Amino acid sequence: MSALRIGVIGVGNISTQYFAHIPNLPNLELVAVADMNEERAREVAAEQGVRALTVDELLADAGIDAVLNLTIPQAHAAIGIRALQSGKHVYGEKPLALDPAEAEPLLALAEQKGLRVGSAPDTVLGTGIQTARKTLDDGTIGRPIAAAIHWSAPGHELWHPAPAFYYQPGGGPLLDMGPYYLTSIVTLFGPIARVSGVATTSSRERRVATGPLAGTAIPVDVATHVSALLEHENGLTTTLTVSFDVWKSRAPLFEVFGTEGTMAVPDPNRFDGDVEIALAATREWETVPVSAGWADSGRGFGLADMARAIETDRPHRASGAMAFHVLEVMDGILRAAADHSVVEIGSTLERPEAVPLDSTPATW
Ligand SMILES: NC(=O)c1ccc[n+]([C@@H]2O[C@H](COP(=O)([O-])OP(=O)(O)OC[C@H]3O[C@@H](n4cnc5c(N)ncnc54)[C@H](O)[C@@H]3O)[C@@H](O)[C@H]2O)c1
Repeated sequence: MSALRIGVIGVGNISTQYFAHIPNLPNLELVAVADMNEERAREVAAEQGVRALTVDELLADAGIDAVLNLTIPQAHAAIGIRALQSGKHVYGEKPLALDPAEAEPLLALAEQKGLRVGSAPDTVLGTGIQTARKTLDDGTIGRPIAAAIHWSAPGHELWHPAPAFYYQPGGGPLLDMGPYYLTSIVTLFGPIARVSGVATTSSRERRVATGPLAGTAIPVDVATHVSALLEHENGLTTTLTVSFDVWKSRAPLFEVFGTEGTMAVPDPNRFDGDVEIALAATREWETVPVSAGWADSGRGFGLADMARAIETDRPHRASGAMAFHVLEVMDGILRAAADHSVVEIGSTLERPEAVPLDSTPATW
């Protein structure tokens, strides 16, 4: 097994989670980091014991096989395309791009060059969502009928030191949190055929709450509360609400309703968490034992799966195709909301291969 040599572009808030896991993934080798903030890149490089490069140097470096793109959404497609043009695979944070039109050339170029595009979220490969998938596929709650998803918070400006990007295109509760829930529901129910939605922007003024920028006003150029109705190709329904406008809620996060019971799905922004079911006979909640997924996983496992998939010439799970489908669904919801219409989703895909328990991304 040869390790995929990784260069990271964009070493901000989320990068620490990748740096915590990459050392435990033997088929990944971190070799360099770059950031438009070169001082930040030098600090992180020193912490990680790797080289600090400029973005141009990193892209030109023949000793790097793949770019891990952890920049903000506005830069995802441009950096991804530059990585592919440099002959490197790319795995990026979500969303894949600002909209499908921006993502299409990225996927087309990868296809043309025989390179891989991977994308967060890889949380769906952990024990939480994979156990939910197995529970559903085993028929434990009977035949599925529908899913209900509610994610809400007061807004990321309360904790993120540089939250402006969350209120620009590519952000908002839908493009920021939607990928976790939509990737999960496609993993559970399969692809989505058509969507409708309503999207509103509240009048709340947003200000940075923490760090050196505290007090700075944040321009809001996104919908801050979005509700959508999704029809899956197999006829199942998902209702989804995501919001940056909710101070507190008791709404369930994520539930699947079946003919024989209900399944509560754990937080898809995490890799683990309990799956609970309440069956028709008792209608009492019980925890399902972990039965699938990578244990003790974290951000970076999807990239390790991509590295292994390159080595063994099989599809990788946290794929550009999945991220594109999810992006098309999110874009479709916003278009449906703007036009008061129903939007047909053009892309489709097979559900990614399930993740067996007791496997690791380096060997499976
Ligand atoms: N912060 C989180 O908790 C979190 C969680 C999951 C996913 N994400 C995703 O990770 C991505 C990054 O988020 P973050 O919170 O780390 O943001 P951040 O602003 O903290 O970090 C982004 C870094 O990228 C650099 N950067 C931006 N554009 C660049 C460019 N064109 N070239 C080189 N460097 C560039 C910035 O200088 C910064 O250091 C986003 O897509 C976000 O949705 C963040």
